[in-house]
Amino acid sequence: MGRTLVICKPDSVERGLVGEIVTRIERKGLRIAAAELRTIERPLAERHYEEHRDKPFFEALVSFITRAPALLLVVEGPEDTWRIVRTLMGPTDPSTAPPGTIRGDLATETTENLIHGSDGPESAEREIALFFPGLR
Ligand code: GTP
Ligand code: MG
Repeated sequence: MGRTLVICKPDSVERGLVGEIVTRIERKGLRIAAAELRTIERPLAERHYEEHRDKPFFEALVSFITRAPALLLVVEGPEDTWRIVRTLMGPTDPSTAPPGTIRGDLATETTENLIHGSDGPESAEREIALFFPGLR
């Protein structure tokens, strides 16, 4: 069994696409193990995205992810669930993401790319502990 952290980012909540995204995850055969709609606090966003702290887009990224409520999900399935979710998401830039992927079908801009998914087993464990510290 594996778990990964998914964030339906503020743009997906604002655009009413959370149902569509959760449906795609569930139809794939993955399970929602935890869910919470909340506005992410800035310090938590900065820790979550700490690998990008020195990038020029860091400030914009943190402002974006904290601007309005996001839907935080722990998604559960096979050992490589993080990879399955990344495949469903599509690449970071929606303008070149293939059709059939969430970003490819539903978005156009890298800055508003709807969804976050952990990029490996260690990231998944770290991020789940950050957002759902009480989850067993
Ligand atoms: P996440 O699941 O959100 O982590 O996206 P990702 O893993 O596909 O991409 P990455 O971790 O490399 O970047 C994190 C987020 O920073 C992306 O989802 C984008 O929103 C944003 N981002 C990445 N690269 C750029 C860039 O070159 N310019 C801008 N403005 N934003 C970027
Ligand atoms: Mg990433």
